[in-house]
Amino acid sequence: MSVIENSKLTVVGAGSVGASTAYAALIRGSARHVALYDINAAKVEAEVLDLAHGTQFTGSSDIVGSDDVSVVEGSQVVVITAGAKQNPGQSRIELAGVNAGIMRKMMPQLLEVAPDAIYVVVTNPCDVLTVLAQEATGLPTERLFASGTVLDTSRLRWKLAERAGVSRSSVHAYIVGEHGDTEFPLWSKATIGTVPILDWETPRGDRMTVDELDQIADDVRNAAYKVIQGKGATNYAIGLSSARIVEAILNDEHAVMPVSPVLHDFHGVDGVALSVPSIVSASGARPIRGTTFAPNELDLFHRSADALRDVAASLR
Ligand code: LAC
Repeated sequence: MSVIENSKLTVVGAGSVGASTAYAALIRGSARHVALYDINAAKVEAEVLDLAHGTQFTGSSDIVGSDDVSVVEGSQVVVITAGAKQNPGQSRIELAGVNAGIMRKMMPQLLEVAPDAIYVVVTNPCDVLTVLAQEATGLPTERLFASGTVLDTSRLRWKLAERAGVSRSSVHAYIVGEHGDTEFPLWSKATIGTVPILDWETPRGDRMTVDELDQIADDVRNAAYKVIQGKGATNYAIGLSSARIVEAILNDEHAVMPVSPVLHDFHGVDGVALSVPSIVSASGARPIRGTTFAPNELDLFHRSADALRDVAASLR
């Protein structure tokens, strides 16, 4: 991929998710200039050195970093990963209180130095924090959104591709709703190529069953718990997902991705950020209004909205 001249990405937070996002962005050439910002000077300096030491082997992108917020200046995209992370067994929602405080403090400072950037919230619970950040800043909903279920969708496509015996890029399926415990797949729209998922003949000569698809959805929903149980965090896949979102913005791709902007009048949901297929471009993310849900999916969507509305309300 050719790197856009003068494009600048800042990743806020030099923890494992932030560092992995910067690493993925360097390797993929997601932005010409990559900056890392963290209030921990020693940590951000060490991560930037480690990343810079490998740039002989990446593309033309460069990396700088600082504990001074001025490093964010000139960014077209800011990816926010700063905050407390999940401990084994802990849900994303349990991080809401502490990370909401960090978000409220940080957003005005970031906006002062990068007033025109698109903001992508990765810190969990990303949907709830997006609503709070949007309310605190008044940014247009298009310009501030959560990475949402882009990662969960990748997890889903990986699983389905393995079972269907096709390339992951030939699996057309989306996880929507909360990036968390109430998320769900839009099975009614899932196809392999053009074939509805339940009609696809697998290499074993059978078809996937509804029970099997439910199990796959459960596995995807619980994927992060499993990774965190084993290694204490998830970082590579979220780093790649974030870098991919950045590319869609900087290249003005108008790519369809399940990111999570604050929704208004979207299938009965108002003032809640939830992942729905959205157009991601240089102007940010716009939910696709033509998206339709089967009746049971609409119920699940509203359940996701209700859960997150309550969490956000408890933090106001
Ligand atoms: C995950 C974290 C990023 O799903 O929420 O891996």
